[in-house]
Amino acid sequence: MKYAHTACLGGGVIGASWAALFLASGRSVTVYDPDPDIEWHVKSYIERAWPTLTALGLTTHGTPDAVSFATTAAAAVEGAGFIQENVPERLAIKHATFAEIEPVLQADAIVASSASGLMLSQMQGGWKNPARFVLGHPFNPPHLIPLVEVLGNDKTADGIVDEARAFYESVGKITIEVKKERNGHVANRLQAALWREAISLVRDGVATLEDVDKAVWAGPGLRWAAMGPTTLFHLGAGAGGLQAFCEHFADTFHGWWDELGHAKLDADTIKILVDGIADAHGDASQADLSAARDALILAMQQATKSLR
Ligand SMILES: NC(=O)c1ccc[n+]([C@@H]2O[C@H](COP(=O)([O-])OP(=O)(O)OC[C@H]3O[C@@H](n4cnc5c(N)ncnc54)[C@H](O)[C@@H]3O)[C@@H](O)[C@H]2O)c1
Repeated sequence: MKYAHTACLGGGVIGASWAALFLASGRSVTVYDPDPDIEWHVKSYIERAWPTLTALGLTTHGTPDAVSFATTAAAAVEGAGFIQENVPERLAIKHATFAEIEPVLQADAIVASSASGLMLSQMQGGWKNPARFVLGHPFNPPHLIPLVEVLGNDKTADGIVDEARAFYESVGKITIEVKKERNGHVANRLQAALWREAISLVRDGVATLEDVDKAVWAGPGLRWAAMGPTTLFHLGAGAGGLQAFCEHFADTFHGWWDELGHAKLDADTIKILVDGIADAHGDASQADLSAARDALILAMQQATKSLR
């Protein structure tokens, strides 16, 4: 197996989930995190994630016991072929981590950062030679949501983005390559665009928050979980395909795009949204809602596995 030993730097929400996934694939993982309770936190996360990973068919070769803990980042990367960095989203911490591990990395190791908000080029400032360093951006929780966005640039060695993608795919992920740096990469920009319009519809009283959410999950959201928006429109105009769809609906979409709403998360807007959530979900706890979300996502993935 390639990259049989891995490391996770930072074992919080994202690091613990990556660790569980790497273990499930039959790899060993060493975690470094300065939190004194990290061993308990990561082990309990793995224990909670394991039934989900098993239900996804991902634990055939793995054991949750192949996790170990190091007391420094440098010690954690010793002997590791693939290193996933999940330290807090602060450039100084990322830079300090890279500077510490670079001198002791295996020559053929790949390091990937989970960073959501920082640019690859900013993070490369922490390296003497960032040739084997990429962005490997997951969605929370990485052990359940398939997508990983991988990005390299002109300082990345040839083939490293492809190698990182192959590694993620070997642990059960679906990858895309982000070819240019953009704030928010790809998927978070798409989420932000949709959420801006959802907020504006709720704020302007066009529909309740509950109904706007429902309009997504019971409507186009279900289609988007099957295929992307442009492919779906390609199927939306019969035999003429996307060309016919665009010609037919150009004026309609231009009219909608001209009118799309703007949103700011100011105090008034936040209150509208928080009140809308209370109306939609009553007394349901965060834990109840999270469990319902994870059960639905798991069931959808199980049901569609043989069709992909
Ligand atoms: N939470 C998300 O939804 C999400 C999604 C995708 C990507 N990310 C990215 O993942 C990264 C981690 O985010 P998170 O949500 O897991 O944060 P988190 O706060 O849950 O975890 C960060 C962990 O890093 C540890 N830490 C602090 N200093 C450290 C150091 N010097 N070395 C090693 N570990 C250190 C902390 O103790 C903590 O356990 C960020 O870059 C974030 O942008 C987060």
